[in-house]
Amino acid sequence: MTIAIHPVHELFVAEVTGIQCGNLDEASFLKIRAAFEEYSVLIFRDQAITDEDQITFSSRFGPLQKTAKANPGVGTYFARQSNLDVNTNEVIPSDDRRMLHQKANFLWHSDSSYRAVPALCSLLSARLLPPEGGNTEFATMRAPYADLTQEQKDALYGLEAEHSLAHSRSLVDSRALTQEMINELPPARQPLFRVNPVNGRRAIYAGSHASHIVGWPMEKGKKFIQDLNQFITQDKYVYSHPWRNGDMVLWDNRSVLHRATPYDAVKYKRVMLRTTSEDQESQYLQERVHAKLSAA
Ligand SMILES: [Fe+2]
Repeated sequence: MTIAIHPVHELFVAEVTGIQCGNLDEASFLKIRAAFEEYSVLIFRDQAITDEDQITFSSRFGPLQKTAKANPGVGTYFARQSNLDVNTNEVIPSDDRRMLHQKANFLWHSDSSYRAVPALCSLLSARLLPPEGGNTEFATMRAPYADLTQEQKDALYGLEAEHSLAHSRSLVDSRALTQEMINELPPARQPLFRVNPVNGRRAIYAGSHASHIVGWPMEKGKKFIQDLNQFITQDKYVYSHPWRNGDMVLWDNRSVLHRATPYDAVKYKRVMLRTTSEDQESQYLQERVHAKLSAA
């Protein structure tokens, strides 16, 4: 089979045909990696994938993040997005904390932007789907950056936002996290725009984990981030993915925001498994390490 890349949206997103992700030679992987840098979101249909295959494919992009305490997949490499209890396989009551956590996924975000080493990419595989609802939506952060005025671009340069899981969860329900979960993940500072190290393309870097601007008055920074998030998630920058059995979607957390959309979680069952690769090549991180070393 020959690998082919089919653009899906005029700004980003491509469907890749001619591969099974669980069984890729190096040359094929390099084509996927190049398409990932270019399109930010890749869709793979009809994948016969085991947990082991998913871990193997995902690991090729970078070391995998261990799942945090706030997710039922804690201690493994899988973040579980499901309305089923991991032990009993029964539907979780809608007022359970685990469902509050999932409601937070309805907010636009970049996975793990609240970690000191953020996520390069996430790979989500559909294991059990409801018959309707539950699209995942993606918003490119590159085109909105390009559409800013020069003055707005200049204003972003050098700014850092504080990101935390505690902040994004507090937007949903103050009971979403226990103190232990909050303690596990202290806030992280991230730049407000990113440069892709392969092709130099620039993107805004925001989302709902970002709360305020470091060094700015709190309310002014909050408003600035809210406005940026609204600007990024205009319809013209968004692709909505309707899931099919056998789908896997890979996305670049440096250049897109994403969000879950609702499905009937009382009536239907859904299991989605995500693996997340660390952004160890982050130019920004390296700069900060440098700065630390030269200050030492
Ligand atoms: Fe996510």
